[in-house]
Amino acid sequence: MFLVIGATASVGRETVRLLLQAGEKVVAVTRDPAAVLPDGAQVATGDPSRPDTLTTVPDGVDAVLLSPRASASTVEHPADHRRFADEFRAVEEAVRRSGLRWTLLRCADFAANAPAWAPQIRATGVVRGAYGDAVTSPIHQRDIAEMAVRALTDREHAVHAGRTCLLTGPQSPDQRDKVRVIGEAIGRELSFQELAPAQVPQAMPAQGLAEDIPDRLLGSLADYANKPGPSTDTVERLLGRPALPFAAWAAENSAAFVSSVRS
Ligand SMILES: NC(=O)c1ccc[n+]([C@@H]2O[C@H](COP(=O)([O-])OP(=O)(O)OC[C@H]3O[C@@H](n4cnc5c(N)ncnc54)[C@H](OP(=O)(O)O)[C@@H]3O)[C@@H](O)[C@H]2O)c1
Repeated sequence: MFLVIGATASVGRETVRLLLQAGEKVVAVTRDPAAVLPDGAQVATGDPSRPDTLTTVPDGVDAVLLSPRASASTVEHPADHRRFADEFRAVEEAVRRSGLRWTLLRCADFAANAPAWAPQIRATGVVRGAYGDAVTSPIHQRDIAEMAVRALTDREHAVHAGRTCLLTGPQSPDQRDKVRVIGEAIGRELSFQELAPAQVPQAMPAQGLAEDIPDRLLGSLADYANKPGPSTDTVERLLGRPALPFAAWAAENSAAFVSSVRS
C-alpha cells in the first residue's frame, strides 16, 4: 500500500492514477475534505505538516510519495535564487535523515505550469510576460509520476534507493516557442508579448498563483534567459522510452486554452 502526499496536484494525482492502474492500493492525502480523487483511492483527509491530523491513514504503508514543496532542479541549479534552493534542500535533508530508504526526483519546469497562461490565451490569444527568451526543458507530469511509481514499487530496493535523479523534458523551448506550440495544439495563432519584469507580479495573483511564486518564477526566468535551464536524458534512460515533449502535453490539455463560449 502506498501513501501519496500532495495527491490533488499534477504529479500526485497522476501517481495515484498510475498506481491504481497497476493494481496497487493507494491512500491519497489531502487537506481538502471536498477533494475529488480517482475512483479506487482511499482518501485520508488531514494536513501533512501536522501529522496528528492524519488520523485515518491505515497501518501497513510500504512507501510514501512526498510531493508538496519537496524537491526541484533548483537544488542543483539555484542561479541567483539560493533561498528557494535552500528550502528544497532542507526537505531533502529531512528525508535523508529519516532513516527510511529514499529516492529524490529533482524536477525541471513543469509543462503543467502552462495553464497559468490559459485565461490570457482564451481571452486575447496573447500571453503577456517577461523573459520570453527564457529556455527550460519542460517535463510532463506523467514522466515524473512514472518515475515515482518505479521508485515506490521498487520492492527489492535494488534500483532507485539512495538515488537522486534530475528529471527534465526532452526539448528546450523558450517561452515564445511554448506559446506557439499551444497555438498549434488549438489551431490558433498565438503570440507572446514581452513585458518589463516589474509589470508581471501585479498580474499573477489574478492567475491564482501563490504569493511567493512571482519572485521564484521571475527569478528563474531571468536566469534561464541568460543561460538555458538544465536538460537531461534521465527519463529516457530510466523509463526506457523517450520523455514526452511539451507538444504532447499541449495536445492532451488543449481544452484548457479554448473558450467554451463561441462568438
Ligand atoms: N511547478 C514546477 O515547475 C515545479 C518544478 C520543479 C519542482 N516542483 C515541485 O514538484 C512538487 C510537485 O508539484 P505539484 O505542482 O504536483 O504539487 P504542489 O503544488 O507542490 O502541491 C501538491 C499538493 O500538496 C498539498 N499540500 C499539502 N500541504 C501543503 C502545503 N503546506 N503547501 C502547499 N500544498 C500542500 C496540496 O493539496 P491539498 O490542498 O489537497 O492538501 C497541493 O495541491 C512540489 O514539491 C513542487 O515544488 C515543481
